[in-house]
Amino acid sequence: MAKILISDKLSPAAVAIFERRGLEVDFKPGLAPAELRAIIGNYDGLAVRSATKVTREVLDAAPKLRVVGRAGIGVDNVDVTSATARGVVVMNTPYGNAITTAEHAIAMMFALARQLPDASTSTKAGKWEKNRFMGVELFGKTLGLIGCGNIGSIVADRAVGLKMKVVAFDPFLSEKRAVELGVEKVELEELFSRADFLTLHTPLTEQTKNILSRENIAKLRRGVRIINCARGGLVDEAALYDALKSGHVAGAALDVFETEPATDSPLFALENVICTPHLGAATAEAQENVALQVADQMADFLLSGAVSNA
Ligand code: MLT
Repeated sequence: MAKILISDKLSPAAVAIFERRGLEVDFKPGLAPAELRAIIGNYDGLAVRSATKVTREVLDAAPKLRVVGRAGIGVDNVDVTSATARGVVVMNTPYGNAITTAEHAIAMMFALARQLPDASTSTKAGKWEKNRFMGVELFGKTLGLIGCGNIGSIVADRAVGLKMKVVAFDPFLSEKRAVELGVEKVELEELFSRADFLTLHTPLTEQTKNILSRENIAKLRRGVRIINCARGGLVDEAALYDALKSGHVAGAALDVFETEPATDSPLFALENVICTPHLGAATAEAQENVALQVADQMADFLLSGAVSNA
């Protein structure tokens, strides 16, 4: 019987699925790297979220391993090249947390527009600073989407519902799909010059790394507000800091950082910055969805060789 190790905090629903599908499963979240290396040799499948780092060393210690399942989208924590070289299939769940992440981006946009975190802190401190918190409306504003795939397209749909004008840069977006979504497909330079709000929804790749570089930030419309619930590394944080200080960028809402956990950053000192600790996928619904999906996908693969999202 194939054996699965779950090494991160996955919903108990995943354990139930593996067992129902006739697989043996051990639930051991929070293993230290050395502990993981010591036991991984016993397993055919490894199910993770983002905490477990599936490094070359882990894979070297796993001669039986056939599949790594990431309950979530990004596989940044898995050495995919080493896994592939060893014939280990790496699969993710690209749909399970898309709505939740899109909703976080929309929440961040509202929070930026109305300075909600600072207004709440101020009010709870007994101040009544009505004049300090003058906001801006979203209605009629242009939202620039960098990336219009699973998550970006949901953000677009919600933004269209808010009566925003949505322009999208995505080389994979067809004109037909853009029309269906009610967005205007544009080149990056045009998006930079038109966006009042700009939100990122791409993976971190060689092509997208630093897509908001110092040079590109300088091309943004003055007063733009930036939301990043995708990946740290898409935005040059030092350049963003300078642009926020100078007022060229009016505000930024960041859920992701170049280095995570981000416990210290010059950005934290800025009033016009809102931060959350990589909460994009953190809802009960999304975590249930990705756990169910990854368990079913891994079971399909181990029981019948069927591969989805690898
Ligand atoms: C993902 O890649 O699924 C999200 O960024 C959430 C996460 O890393 O847990």
